[in-house]
Amino acid sequence: MLFTVKTRIKTGLCGLLLALGAVQSGLALADDAAKGQAVFERDCSLCHTANAGGPNIMGPNLHGVVGRKAGSLAGFSYSQAMKDHGATWSRDNLEAFLAQPQTAVPGTYMPYQGLADADERKALSLWLSQQH
Ligand code: HEC
Repeated sequence: MLFTVKTRIKTGLCGLLLALGAVQSGLALADDAAKGQAVFERDCSLCHTANAGGPNIMGPNLHGVVGRKAGSLAGFSYSQAMKDHGATWSRDNLEAFLAQPQTAVPGTYMPYQGLADADERKALSLWLSQQH
């Protein structure tokens, strides 16, 4: 009897801890996305919009960029390098591109020196992946 009660309490506690963990990671995610948006505004918004139907500035609109084929937004004049790149943007290859644009896509027109901070790249790719 005592055993069952203890087990129940333990199981209950475990469930509670799991639930708390889930809430916590949910919050961390929202946090990261907000950080990603701040990085976007600081480093990218001079040349890019990311809202639905936003204009191309110096760079193409990035709404829905995760899952889009590189160099494929109609009406934007990409470099030959970007048109030939062939990749579909994912969080991973975006982070690699943003770390060193010229290394990831040699000959790209994107005049950006690269985002050195891996946490910022992660937060930014998360936020971009949510712009759908
Ligand atoms: C000074 C202007 C400038 C800045 C700053 C800039 N970009 Fe770009 N970006 C461009 C241009 C120009 C292109 C087109 C590159 C090409 O055709 O080779 C581009 C292309 C891209 C692409 C490829 C899009 C596609 O449709 O294939 C992504 C993704 C991208 N930029 C993300 C970013 C992010 C995220 C930042 C901020 C960390 C950023 N860029 C900063 C000008 C800029």
